[in-house]
Amino acid sequence: MAKIGIFYGSTDGNTERVVTQIQTLLGGEPVAVLHNVNSASADDMQPYPYLILACPTWEIGQLQEDWDSFIDELQDVDYTGKKVAYVGLGDADGYPDTFIDAPGIIHDRIKDKGVTVVGQWPTEGYNFEASKG
Ligand SMILES: Cc1cc2nc3c(=O)[nH]c(=O)nc-3n(C[C@H](O)[C@H](O)[C@H](O)COP(=O)(O)O)c2cc1C
Repeated sequence: MAKIGIFYGSTDGNTERVVTQIQTLLGGEPVAVLHNVNSASADDMQPYPYLILACPTWEIGQLQEDWDSFIDELQDVDYTGKKVAYVGLGDADGYPDTFIDAPGIIHDRIKDKGVTVVGQWPTEGYNFEASKG
């Protein structure tokens, strides 16, 4: 069974395009499976030792709408032994005060549940004022 579950939401299709590229780079379906959060549950997350949570920021510092409905599911996942990475899409020119807030909002909901977060991304080259990400 694939070890990586990529859970994403996407209103305009940008995040869907990006996670599809990530899936390919990781080795395709045998390694990483895509789950749109508009039809996923905590039970879908449980089997994976590695989770990638991908959410664009919408409506000035809010979760993408499907993530907004899904986020309570995260409380029911047992994160023991799991590693989690975040992917966030946003627009630094249009929304410099809430640039890529969504991963920070998600992290706030699960950070006290024993989750191990992996991955870093440089802020160099991005022009923004504030980001929860
Ligand atoms: C109405 C609206 C509000 C947005 N608000 C933010 C925001 O607060 N912060 C941010 O970084 N990007 C914001 N964005 C940019 C989106 O995150 C960006 O367009 C993203 O690529 C959308 O991803 P999706 O196509 O997967 O839905 C906003 C875009 C729109 C149209």
